[in-house]
Amino acid sequence: MNRLWMATSAMALVLLGVHLTACKQSSDPAASEDIPIGVYLSLSGANADFGVTTKNGIDLAVEEINAAGGIGGKKIRVIAKDTRSKPEEAQTVAKQLATQDKVVAAIGSVESGQSIKAAPVFQEAGIPMVSPSSTNPDVTKQGDRIFRVCYLDDFQGQACADFAFKDMKATKAGLLYAADDDYSKGLAGFFREHFKKLGGEIVAEATFQGDVSEFKDQVSAVAAKEPALVFVPVYYSKIGLIAREFRKQGFKGPLLGGDGWESEQLVQLAGETLEGCYFGYHYDPEDADPKVQGYIKGYREKFKKEPNSLSALGYDAVYAIKQAIELGGGPGRDQITEGLRKIRGFKGVTGTFDIDENRNARKPITMLKIGGTDLKKVKVIQPGDIK
Ligand code: PHE
Repeated sequence: MNRLWMATSAMALVLLGVHLTACKQSSDPAASEDIPIGVYLSLSGANADFGVTTKNGIDLAVEEINAAGGIGGKKIRVIAKDTRSKPEEAQTVAKQLATQDKVVAAIGSVESGQSIKAAPVFQEAGIPMVSPSSTNPDVTKQGDRIFRVCYLDDFQGQACADFAFKDMKATKAGLLYAADDDYSKGLAGFFREHFKKLGGEIVAEATFQGDVSEFKDQVSAVAAKEPALVFVPVYYSKIGLIAREFRKQGFKGPLLGGDGWESEQLVQLAGETLEGCYFGYHYDPEDADPKVQGYIKGYREKFKKEPNSLSALGYDAVYAIKQAIELGGGPGRDQITEGLRKIRGFKGVTGTFDIDENRNARKPITMLKIGGTDLKKVKVIQPGDIK
């Protein structure tokens, strides 16, 4: 690089800086020349896979939209923050996005615990937030600007209990979950309630707290009661360790999980210990819909690997905001909020859905079976299927 070039670029940067500051004078972010969207996800730490794959889906959607000219002539600009897999950090970065970055909408997080902490910050600032994949019912109860594009844990817990009782024919189940995590505790509760309602019995329950990696006592307490299966609604970073411990202690029954098991690393982390086990998923990659197949093709081309349901939800969250800008009449915070409230029959990669009066989506759950390195679709459960 020669000196002259460096000097001119430095000057250009200064000029650009001046120009940008001038544009930022306006307090209404809607007046900016692009559409700043904040993204907060676990891009590092225990759940990094959640954030990285979701971000890929978001990037793919943004690239498509911007390549086609943007929305009303304005391009989307993503400002991404790393929550380092911590709920408190989600709140900290939400404040930065709201005040420093002046975003007009936010996408995040995956983990319900993070979304519950960040949502009040966005609500307070008047910024609409769309969680791609936080399923705990409390997320959207944080305020009338908080939305999601995924199913909820009351439905997911019921669907898993239904599957355990009717399809896996289990009458005695065990539970192992994280007592200090909104998602894990909530989902365990919905499973327990519905499994009992169906006539099943929860023969053992054990919990853990914090970032532990030793599950010997919990596993032996559960295995001792000889359940036909164990429901373990934890994240992927823990299920490998837990499954290995169950097998080490000689428990041969199947383990069942919620959406939180999803990770590109699942099979690698668990080895063969999850062979024949099941968990819930957010989309059906076998769906022949050109929208789904187009998404899979686009993802493979851009990232040279397979998409998953997290990336599909991130992708759908971006297109939901695009539709909200169109329905609301522009890219202002109030306009996007209004637009999101109006979404009906949204055609996403993860299904067709409405945003209901509680700012939630009602969608099917796909149960997957783990076999070798493959995940096989065994059943799609519709919200209406649960009695
Ligand atoms: N539903 C989980 C939660 O609310 C997050 C998650 C979604 C994890 C999808 C993996 C896949 O915490």
